[in-house]
Amino acid sequence: MIKAQRGTKDILPENILTWQRIEKTARELFQRANYKEIRTPIFEATELFKRGVGDSTDIVNKEMYTFSVGGQNKDESSITLRPENTAGVVRAFIEHGFSRASVPVKFWYFGPMFRYERPQKGRQRQFHQIGVEMFGVNDPSADAEVIALALKFLSEMGLKELVAEVNSLGCTKCRDEYKNRIKEVLKPYLDNLCEDCKVRYEKNPLRMLDCKNESCAKIFENDEIKRVILSDFICEECLEHYNSVKKYLDVLGVKYKENKMLVRGLDYYNRTVFEIKSDALGSQSAVAGGGRYDGLVEMLGGEKTPAVGFALGVERLYELVEHTEEQKLDYFVVSNLQDKAMETVQCLRDMGKSADFDFQNRKFGKQLEKAGKTAKMAVIIGEDEVAGEYYTVKNLETGEQKKLKLSEL
Ligand code: HAM
Repeated sequence: MIKAQRGTKDILPENILTWQRIEKTARELFQRANYKEIRTPIFEATELFKRGVGDSTDIVNKEMYTFSVGGQNKDESSITLRPENTAGVVRAFIEHGFSRASVPVKFWYFGPMFRYERPQKGRQRQFHQIGVEMFGVNDPSADAEVIALALKFLSEMGLKELVAEVNSLGCTKCRDEYKNRIKEVLKPYLDNLCEDCKVRYEKNPLRMLDCKNESCAKIFENDEIKRVILSDFICEECLEHYNSVKKYLDVLGVKYKENKMLVRGLDYYNRTVFEIKSDALGSQSAVAGGGRYDGLVEMLGGEKTPAVGFALGVERLYELVEHTEEQKLDYFVVSNLQDKAMETVQCLRDMGKSADFDFQNRKFGKQLEKAGKTAKMAVIIGEDEVAGEYYTVKNLETGEQKKLKLSEL
């Protein structure tokens, strides 16, 4: 028997109402905040993610579903299933000339992403993200809006206690100095770092800070190293920006805490980064993450455009929210007069009611049993009803029964 692929899941009808509620809540909230929905393709040129997400990230190095299509005479360029959607949205922003639109340009999206990871609770190979991206605004009010929006969405989904962890990664200038200081202080420990961190040491030293390896975490506990990690490295301009983000978060009544170890797993960030975590999720605790990426549009060939956004993992959110129960049908039509049953079901549906019938013309008792399980009301049509031009309508919760005309239903 062929089964679903490891790390993928069917979303069944019994779960779909919660998914639909998540999507509806997102759509309504983001529309109120003036974000327009964008749907980009699920595969893109591999080059987009290599350049966009970054060559030194786990995502690009280990987790991409990359393939080429076609034979000798066909298009053999390498394509990749999107591991995230910021790069794709930036590509669309550039391709459709949104840099000429009046700022800010605000998008939101919902869709599947693909990462070849080791599946575990909260970690899948196909998962879904809801995200927003805002282009054109350098001002810290944009960062605050995006963080506030992520928390507002979670709160509208019933998760009111969640807090955003925030940090500033500074700009390329001040961060480069910081990277060098971290490398310097870690140099004597290089042999004791895990294999991944040895590579990160060269390619992207900041990523070492959120290494999950125990022996690395122990090294970072060393006083001297900790002092460097926790030092205030960001330049005056970045500090001013960061302080304003926090001030605006206070203005909006957003709950946040600072976490200097927060570096995020994608290369495009500068200045503000944030994550929203929930202990209830276990080891994969991040529900949402995001930040500012002022260099990405230019790096992918567009005009220099500041930007900030976040994405939220829908499967992880699903684990945290109350689930919506499936609703019973308004009416189940019970009859051995198949044509009458069909006609009545159609009329009821045209009237905006949910309705169904047996299709197989089974015994009356069987149909009534099915009605009891699936509907709030049964509409009974027998010979007497047809002769008298009425319907017997039975309330399946109270047992109450009435004779009604269709227009009275
Ligand atoms: P990310 O932190 O890689 O950021 O992913 C965002 C969220 O997607 C995570 O917090 C998590 O909830 C969910 N997620 C990630 N990987 C998996 C997985 N394998 N299984 C289940 N859920 C997962 C981004 O993707 C950035 N594009 C966010 C962003 C938008 N930054 C700026 N704009």
